[in-house]
Parts: sequence; structure tokens; C-alpha cells
Amino acid sequence: MALRTPSLRRIDRWVPAVCVTLAVLVLAGCAPEGYPQTTLAPKSDFAELLDQVFRRSFQLATIVFFLVEGVLVWALFRFRGKPGDAEPAQTHGNAMLEVVWTVIPAVILVFIAIPTIQVIFKTAAVPTDNPLVIEVTGHQWWWEFRYPEYNLVTAGDMHVPLGRTVDLRMTTADVVHSFWTPQLAGKRDVFPKRDNRLWFRTETPGVYPGQCAEFCGTQHTRMAFQVVAQDSASFVTWREGLAAVSAPAPGPVDSAAPPPNPLAAQGQQLFTAKGCVGCHAVTAVGAPTMTGPNLAGVGDRTHVAGGWLPNTDENLARWLHNPQAVKVGVLMPNLGLTDVEITALVAYLRSLRAVPAPPAVALTAAGN
Ligand code: CUA
Repeated sequence: MALRTPSLRRIDRWVPAVCVTLAVLVLAGCAPEGYPQTTLAPKSDFAELLDQVFRRSFQLATIVFFLVEGVLVWALFRFRGKPGDAEPAQTHGNAMLEVVWTVIPAVILVFIAIPTIQVIFKTAAVPTDNPLVIEVTGHQWWWEFRYPEYNLVTAGDMHVPLGRTVDLRMTTADVVHSFWTPQLAGKRDVFPKRDNRLWFRTETPGVYPGQCAEFCGTQHTRMAFQVVAQDSASFVTWREGLAAVSAPAPGPVDSAAPPPNPLAAQGQQLFTAKGCVGCHAVTAVGAPTMTGPNLAGVGDRTHVAGGWLPNTDENLARWLHNPQAVKVGVLMPNLGLTDVEITALVAYLRSLRAVPAPPAVALTAAGN
């Protein structure tokens, strides 16, 4: 009767299970070391609240799972039919059983619903403890961060001070995106012409990866950002440095003081000559939103190209060489830059630091 042999049927049954197990193991290995993109290691008060709900629900689900599966497995063996058994008694409905298996889940749901609703209200509340307001704007495909308290704007890296609640006011310049830093806060969608909010406070310094979590076009997956959580002294150094380094020089608009390095100075001229200034501001103080990310302080950001390429000279050069090859469909065109021009532009962008680079080791040695 059977078209396949029993051994083949057994393989059919095990292949999906083995594939799923392998996939889970492989995907579980994706997280980078240190600050992985995981919701299971909360590092803020907001993330802790979500984690408590998750853990309570998961614990209850675990108990239910083992109870139900235990009874099922017990029944399978206890009432297993043997060849020659007579047909068992047929039943139609059992009012008592149905009441029991309706009431028990209802009670369990109440135990899950109470803390869930409490957390919904807590996380939706507007923070009143002197929060730092940050205006977050999603763009295809990068994130912009404004600090109205300091009249500063930046992109890609969102700096936050430890121990102070940040109150995010969020919107989008184009399509719907979703702001998600798994270790610090839950996902929050951003909509055109509408303000959404999110808040959190962290006490743990670190660089937390974040990701757009709503499909928003071809490069959705490369719309990342980092939350740089730092102690208040480092935060002040960063914001004051950003304000100082990008303070507009007296004279022509939007040109920071020429950098001392001649190669960087050449890059600065190219930045204007090649039209980069048309889309990118290099001053952070009170700068308007432009087509491309604000580049003040880009020299010491953790990432470039929409928060997903580590900020190395090689990656900057790769990006300038042909953005379309790195991130198809991005607004930045291929400017046809030569290698010499790219080297100068990289030197210029690298010089736009919020925090001065630590002195080179060689200089210290020479001084001694
Ligand atoms: Cu923005 Cu996905």
C-alpha cells in the first residue's frame, strides 16, 4: 500500500526538525559580543518593565506547556489501543470538563493581563523627571537626532547621558519606520506628520545597536543606529565638543574653520566644489534638516552609511567611491571621485570630530 519505505518516511519526519534546530543554533550565534541586539538582556528601566512582563508570561506558558504535554503523553501511553481491542465508549460533550478548561485559561489570562496593562500605562506615561528631550526623525535610510536643549543635531549615533531619562519625540521625514534598540526600549513606529513618544533611562554605559524595525524600502535592513550611553562628564564633553568643532566660522555660510591638516583642507574645498554641501550640513548648532545626514562630528561616530558600516577610513572611501554599489537606491549619487579626491575627503571628514583624537603614541614618546 505505502508508496515509500518506512525508513524514508522516518527521514521525512526528522528533516524539518533538524533544519529548524540548526537554523535556531546558527541564528543564535549572530549576536555580536558585548552589546548584542537582544531583548533578553535589558539595560534600561523601560526595557526592564517589558522584560518583567515577558518573563511572567513565559513562566506561565512553560507551566501550561509541561502540564498539557504531560497529560497528553500520559494519555497516549495509558490509553494506547492494542490489536483486538473493542471500540472504546463514544462520548459527546462534557459540561464539567468544558467549564474547567474555559475557566483555567481565563484565570491565567487575568494573571498575564494585570501586569501587562500596568506596564502599558507605565511605558506610555510622559516622563516628568526633568528628561532630556531628543527629537528623532527617520529618513530613508538613516536616523536624525536633535537635542533642542543644546540646539544640536546629529545622525547615526544617539548620545545619551547615564542616569537621566531621555524623552524621545519621534517622527519621519518620509515613510513609516520603526525605532528599536532592543536592550533599551521597545519598538516604536514613526509616522508622517505625527509625533510618537518613547522614553528610557539607562545606568549602564555602552554602545547599543539599534535598527529600523518596519520595512521601509530596499535598504530597510541597512537603516541602523547606535545609542551611545555615557557618563555625564563624557556626554558633556561630546556635546560641547560637537558645538565647538562645528561652530560656523564668521563669513560664508556653513563652512567650519579650515582644518589644520593640508590634506583635510583640500578635502574641505572638495566638499564644496563637488556639491556635498548641497545635501550635508557640517555644523551641528541649529542646523536645518537637509537631504543627507548632518556630518558635524562624523569623524568620531561609530558608524557611517546609515549606521551600519563601521566608521573606518576604508569604509568611508568605499562609500565615497560609489554609494550606489554599497547601498543600492540611496539618495547619494556616484560623484565619480578620483582616488586622490577620496583620500582628501576622507581626511576632511575624519577631522570633523566632536571629541579630539587622543594624541598619537609616537608624539608622547618623542616628548619624553
Ligand atoms: Cu526604516 Cu525600515
